[in-house]
Amino acid sequence: MLELLPPPPADPLWELTRAFGTDERPQRLDLVLGVYRDRTGSTPVMAAVREAELRLAERSESKEYRGLSGNTAFNRALLDLVLGAGRPGPADRAAAVQTVAGSGALRLLADLVCRTRPGTTVWISDPAYVNHRPILEAAGLRVRPFAWRDADGGFDTAAVMRDLGGARREDVVLLQGCCHNPSGVDPSWEDWEALADLAARDGWVPFVDLAYHGLGDGLEADLRATRMLAERVPEMLVAVSCSKNFGLYSDRTGCAIVLGASARAVRHAETALQNAARTLYSMPPEHGAAVVATVLGDEGLRAAWRAELDVMRGRIAANRTHLTARLTALGLDAPARALARQKGMFSMLPLDAAQMLRLREEFAIYGTTSGRVNIAGLPSDRVACLAEGIAAVLDPSGRGR
Ligand SMILES: Cc1ncc(COP(=O)(O)O)c(C=O)c1O
Repeated sequence: MLELLPPPPADPLWELTRAFGTDERPQRLDLVLGVYRDRTGSTPVMAAVREAELRLAERSESKEYRGLSGNTAFNRALLDLVLGAGRPGPADRAAAVQTVAGSGALRLLADLVCRTRPGTTVWISDPAYVNHRPILEAAGLRVRPFAWRDADGGFDTAAVMRDLGGARREDVVLLQGCCHNPSGVDPSWEDWEALADLAARDGWVPFVDLAYHGLGDGLEADLRATRMLAERVPEMLVAVSCSKNFGLYSDRTGCAIVLGASARAVRHAETALQNAARTLYSMPPEHGAAVVATVLGDEGLRAAWRAELDVMRGRIAANRTHLTARLTALGLDAPARALARQKGMFSMLPLDAAQMLRLREEFAIYGTTSGRVNIAGLPSDRVACLAEGIAAVLDPSGRGR
């Protein structure tokens, strides 16, 4: 049977990571995957997470099945974290189901949309997170792109409003709640309000993907747009990842949140999410969710986690500022200006696929062919080297500098 399988395409990001692994040049620099690295270049277990793990190991509770929604304390804690503990409106307007990280949440929610209205159109930004289209299409949904950035690398308010003006009542619009992957370009507060007005007026359902809250402007600021949308529209879907802001990448921790107009609709949606999980993996793994529930449920651990998250955010911002300064010093004013306005783990360099390839071949600097680089993975002492690589591939003669 397997002989019949045509060669499937390899995942482009993991292919690049594999290529990096075989690169023997000592100066090689991996800026491909979205992983936070500290000054030493390693991805640490956060101290609050480590402490929660120790407490859980000491308690050593049963590993009995938890149920189709996973860890319920985790689900409650994430509802409070994402929507705000003092949120107005009835508590049964929203439900959360633990998932296999943010990707699992995206897929379960896509399944829910498809089950509710087969063939629904989901609008995604152009550029989008590399896995948005594959996940949505695998669930049987149609995908339409909408504009995101202008020619100067900023948020293109007019083009976004024009494109999303074409979204119909039956459509779903996928928006990243903060720190847009891959561009680092986020809507301003006024833009978010205009998007909420549009959704409320035209009736489309916002589907918010939250993967980087806490790594842009701070935890509360990064969740502000999601909370505002939740208050302004009757229905909303939210995919939440704990991979980056808890550093739980391999523990595959996240949840799917649904907000509905009635308790009955929310109950049905929750059961549909459980049913979707049941046919995929039955129920999610416990460890990461138990860790997050322990951290968020203990005042001291929660404060320690937030302090660590702030340190991570500060380091990412410092890397971006440092890179901006180096680019400016090399005479690259326009890319420096664009970079300075971006947020979160990623930035998109103004380089095409051929220039990104040169960066890889000549400087051993690995980013994606679309120009995305992981600012959070940049060791401080390599910032100058990245700036010089960018300058060299933009202007190989060096005459413009
Ligand atoms: C925008 C966005 N959404 C979702 C995810 C999924 O993250 P995970 O499945 O690792 O939680 C990512 C990961 O990079 C992402 O960038």
